[in-house]
Amino acid sequence: METDRELPDISSLKIPRHVAIIMDGNGRWAKMRHKPRTYGHAKGAEVLEETLENCDHLGIRYLTVYAFSTENWARPLEEVKVIMNLFRKYLISSVEKCMKNNVRCIVIGERSRLSPDIAEAVCHLEEATKDNTGITFIIAINYGSRDEIVRGVKRLAGDVAANLLSPDDVNEGVIQNYLDTADIPDPDLLIRTSGEERLSNFLLWQLAYAEFYFTDVPWPDFSMEELIKAIRVYTSRDRRFGKVK
Ligand code: IPE
Ligand code: IPE
Ligand code: MG
Repeated sequence: METDRELPDISSLKIPRHVAIIMDGNGRWAKMRHKPRTYGHAKGAEVLEETLENCDHLGIRYLTVYAFSTENWARPLEEVKVIMNLFRKYLISSVEKCMKNNVRCIVIGERSRLSPDIAEAVCHLEEATKDNTGITFIIAINYGSRDEIVRGVKRLAGDVAANLLSPDDVNEGVIQNYLDTADIPDPDLLIRTSGEERLSNFLLWQLAYAEFYFTDVPWPDFSMEELIKAIRVYTSRDRRFGKVK
């Protein structure tokens, strides 16, 4: 991406190939400022744009962000409406930005519950950016890991019933292929902002060997400095993958 900002010295850092982020704390950030929760979501969307650029600058190849969970429908209707309107705006404006910056965009999650115009914007964004060769940006919308596994298993069972697949051929790679993240390498680093230390139904299969980094910083305050802090901690971790070093 083009920029006139100075790149911080990252020569001592091990840059993860794939970073996943649970962007949490928009509501609390807004509340601290005596503003409605939705003000925090709007600021969060801006910070997401900056974070995508920052990840690209650092040489990260995949960024996955948790934007809306299958459980988030249980929030007040007004808040859900505002978030959906932000998606409308964001998905449409992203097409031009992603094309300009060579970003390939993929949306994971269950689509049928999205309103038709949002589902259409998702398809358009994916289709328009599918041949871009820069960073892959994966947005999780109406995503829940258990829901993803249920949908994947249903399709797999259907393929077995139709004799397209034998139960003996099912292995980890086959299961991976039935998930929304088929063809995407597993995240190396998971970041969750705003103090909570849980997965909230995010990428349960894919995070099997990721390094976890939790920070008290709320998502709307997440900056390049905070991203580099997380990568510094990641650099200091010893990833053994069950082996002895
Ligand atoms: C994350 O911020 C955004 C979404 C879940 C859509 P929250 O809205 O969860 O903010 P807090 O956690 O209530 O502060
Ligand atoms: C997880 O945050 C979902 C997203 C960031 C989109 P939540 O705020 O919904 O998670 P809980 O309810 O604190 O577990
Ligand atoms: Mg939250």
